[in-house]
Amino acid sequence: MTNNKKSSPDRYALVGHPVEHSRSPLIHTVFARATGQRLTYELIDAEPAAFETAVRGFGAAGGKGLNVTVPHKQAAFALCTKLSDAATAAGAVNTISIAEDGLHGYNTDGIGLVRDLTVNLRRALAGKRIVVLGAGGAARGIVGPLLNEKPEELVVANRTKDRADEVAAKFADTVLVARAFEDLAYLRPFDIVINATSAGLKGDAPPFPPGLVGPRSFCYDLVYGSADTPFVAWAKTHGAERAVHGWGMLVEQAAESFAIWRGVRPDTRALLKQIPR
Ligand code: ATR
Repeated sequence: MTNNKKSSPDRYALVGHPVEHSRSPLIHTVFARATGQRLTYELIDAEPAAFETAVRGFGAAGGKGLNVTVPHKQAAFALCTKLSDAATAAGAVNTISIAEDGLHGYNTDGIGLVRDLTVNLRRALAGKRIVVLGAGGAARGIVGPLLNEKPEELVVANRTKDRADEVAAKFADTVLVARAFEDLAYLRPFDIVINATSAGLKGDAPPFPPGLVGPRSFCYDLVYGSADTPFVAWAKTHGAERAVHGWGMLVEQAAESFAIWRGVRPDTRALLKQIPR
């Protein structure tokens, strides 16, 4: 993609509710500087009823692309006229390209997670036993890319078992199993334990059976924080080999979005160091 120095920079934004504490503007500004791309990145706070108007208004004003976050990823999926395979599998969109023929939807969350785990944190996923805690939008976004890594077993466990069953039915893969949290108590500790629930965010202790974590378990929280998140603290207390928050996933999913929009994938290494893990 070329940049005409005389024209105004291309506009991108994150739309969500709330968005004020998002680090996405910082991340994309760093990427733009490093790759020599001229663009701006804004925050758009839109309640669910205002989501579609916000997206269409941004496009009408010349906006080129959007990231979409909680609670709009499923609404974004419904608005897009073209969908990537990952977005179709997840039933959710976190990246929109605003094109002349309509809105093109992508989902970079799962690939961002897999890249953080396998490249940045050097964890092989092939042949491993993995459990995803949660069966909401965040969980659905990562199951497909995790299955692509060929784990020995992928358990989706949820407080409400029916929702885990729905996820398993959607992917229909023989290594994918749905469980209720209480069923996990009878299984061996997992190699990789991924928290995709919003439990713990409101200050209550994570409600998972301690037996799923052992001394060789690597624990990963999709949530990030400047200090240990409640899940990371819980995993360390229960003897995990290592437990990390999801800063790397945020950075890597942003790099994938940037590559979709601009045709160039930024180097993520400098940003990854900004929040220690
Ligand atoms: P998201 O898009 O962040 O995944 P969501 O679709 O509302 O949001 O899903 C939230 C997930 O966190 C669900 O798996 C939810 O479990 P239920 O399906 O049983 O509701 C889980 N969750 C939220 N609060 C929880 C809690 N206190 N204990 C256990 N699970 C919780």
